[in-house]
Amino acid sequence: MIKRTFAKYLVVLAALALAPAMLSAPARAAGGGEKPLDMTWTFDGPTGTYDRAALQRGYKIYREVCAACHSMNLLYYRNLEALGYNEEQIKNIAREYTYMDGPNDEGDMFERPGLPSDRFKSPFENDKQAASANNGAVPPDLSLMAKARAGGPDYLYSLLVGYEEHAPHGHTLLSGQYWNKYMAGHVIAMAPPLAEGQIAYEDGTPQTLEQYAKDVSHFMMWAADPYMEERKQTGIAVILFLIVFAGVMYAYKKKIWKDVH
Ligand code: HEC
Repeated sequence: MIKRTFAKYLVVLAALALAPAMLSAPARAAGGGEKPLDMTWTFDGPTGTYDRAALQRGYKIYREVCAACHSMNLLYYRNLEALGYNEEQIKNIAREYTYMDGPNDEGDMFERPGLPSDRFKSPFENDKQAASANNGAVPPDLSLMAKARAGGPDYLYSLLVGYEEHAPHGHTLLSGQYWNKYMAGHVIAMAPPLAEGQIAYEDGTPQTLEQYAKDVSHFMMWAADPYMEERKQTGIAVILFLIVFAGVMYAYKKKIWKDVH
């Protein structure tokens, strides 16, 4: 009897300990779009991890394609260490961008190359400039996008592969508008950003639209949740501790009650 109750306690405790690792609450439901495709990710489940090679490919796509329109304001170049880049490589990446700094001793602003301590360079100075360059639509910051939409990385992947060449009969698109199966309301002001063969992969990974979409979504998931792996590890350690602790307590209980039975 006591044993059964104890086992139940253990299950509840384990579930509580595991919950934070498995929950990733979507902040906004994407009403009006099709349900995202159900993809398999290496970071799925309580022991899943990011795939460094996929993250590097995803970052390459962001850098060469998406960064022309989308900022990722919460990321610093030094964060790229988590993708497996070393200090020298990160310095070189940062150096490719130019930043306004100052004022110097004469009171003037000046330009300098980027540093690992800089935030990812934004493509536009402000939202007005972003809107005017994009038919009036502001490309949203992508730092937390994987958490901001229901479906997370599944949604991002679906969106990137979900363009239809023509709007269904009875719908008209204005110039600068595109039809996407997964976008809320189906009409999106972003032209299909990816196409087969567009980005060169050095590691022999297929250069297909689907692969690109998968890698860049993987990267955006990491950006939105860079500590997921540590969190999961802590969850597992806590559960192991609880199991061992439960065993010890059970043995102890038996010892104390030995003479009473
Ligand atoms: C030429 C500019 C441009 C490029 C390049 C571009 N985007 Fe966009 N993107 C936009 C604009 C504009 C919007 C806003 C669309 C809207 O609200 O209708 C947008 C919206 C989005 C959204 C939000 C969709 C939603 O649910 O509201 C995501 C996600 C996104 N882009 C991802 C990407 C990714 C990933 C890339 C690179 C592979 C990329 N974009 C490249 C202009 C661009």
